[in-house]
Amino acid sequence: MPFRIVSGDITKLHVDAIVNAANTSLLGGGGVDGAIHRAAGPRLLEECRGLHGCRTGEAKVTLGYDLPAKYVIHTVGPIWQGGRHGEEELLRSAYRNSLLLAFEKHCESVAFPMISAGVYGYPKEQALEVAVSTIRAFLEENEMDVILVIFDRESFRFDVRLYSELSGYIRNIYDDGKGPGNFLGDVARSVAFGGVSGSRRSLFSRSRKPKSSECARAVSEEPVEDAEMDEAVSLDDAPPMMNIKAEAMSCASMPGSTPGGLAEALANLDESFSQALLRMIDARGMKDSECYKKANIDRKLFSKIRSDVFYRPSKQTVLAFAVALELDLSETEEFLKKAGFALSHSNKADVIVEYFIENKNYDIYRINEALFAFDQNLLGA
Ligand code: APR
Repeated sequence: MPFRIVSGDITKLHVDAIVNAANTSLLGGGGVDGAIHRAAGPRLLEECRGLHGCRTGEAKVTLGYDLPAKYVIHTVGPIWQGGRHGEEELLRSAYRNSLLLAFEKHCESVAFPMISAGVYGYPKEQALEVAVSTIRAFLEENEMDVILVIFDRESFRFDVRLYSELSGYIRNIYDDGKGPGNFLGDVARSVAFGGVSGSRRSLFSRSRKPKSSECARAVSEEPVEDAEMDEAVSLDDAPPMMNIKAEAMSCASMPGSTPGGLAEALANLDESFSQALLRMIDARGMKDSECYKKANIDRKLFSKIRSDVFYRPSKQTVLAFAVALELDLSETEEFLKKAGFALSHSNKADVIVEYFIENKNYDIYRINEALFAFDQNLLGA
């Protein structure tokens, strides 16, 4: 998932780089600075001594030593002085310069604390807005997994007005008796086919008729071997979607297939999740990358979905794409059904997503801040 918010201790994260909210001396301190130096061991301080400090808004990199992270990117956020001394721009450049340094070091994953939101006194709600908007701008142009780490709940100040509106919305749903009593739950996953094993590339080849054995495999219950997908088609040369109907009809005409049996049922399959997704992307004239970035979905996962007509997404993935495609509530329900899910009024996360869709707010970063504020799983993958 390109952007996620997590609770925890940044020194424990197994990522390529963690960012330290340091001071200009780079010689350690309290807060996250102290925690990182303690966890990394004395060699970190030794290397820092050689860096001769760091200016506010800038960033420098060292090894991670005893930390699970390979690198530590030290940056210095602004001390809050009321907001009229360029604090916002300095905080933005602290995040931006740290991201650029992580990119230069070919990091695939980087974790940030809430820079300046502790000792330096930056108002927490504004600090969150600067962090999320700067990270989002970077991810629109680059591929990386970026994690914002919230060490204590105190540090996470979600939009107070929105939080109380959401709390009221959730309460109304329960008070109107649409809550747990109406538990719809997720429709039992009705995926009839597990997809195929073996090289799917051949299955999607443009003109070949399937051999009977391949046809049989096409409806096997064997789970999708995602590992086999990794070396599969990249986004650019992903073959056009397999025409299930034609494929199934050719199965139906196979010797030994019984009329009205499974093979014929295959000929009348509904459109799959993957097909519906690609159809709606095209219908909106969106580029693939525009859609999966708006959905907070990483490129590799999108490539798997694009090249596997039987792909089985998680509910969060379906909802993330529903947001990216700006579907209304009934379109979202239809889309969920294609993957065997339904919105449920006894699922707080569903109610929160429903609130944003009802209000036509399709900002997935905002939705994820709200989901995090209510301790729910985030959208994306
Ligand atoms: N993991 C993740 N986040 C943490 C951790 C941790 N182990 N410890 C603290 N934090 C969070 C705090 O809760 C806060 O939200 O890091 C955020 C930044 O707080 P500070 O560490 O106080 O950093 P900052 O506000 O930028 O002040 C920097 O404090 O520690 C000194 O040497 C540092 O002088 C510098 C100043």
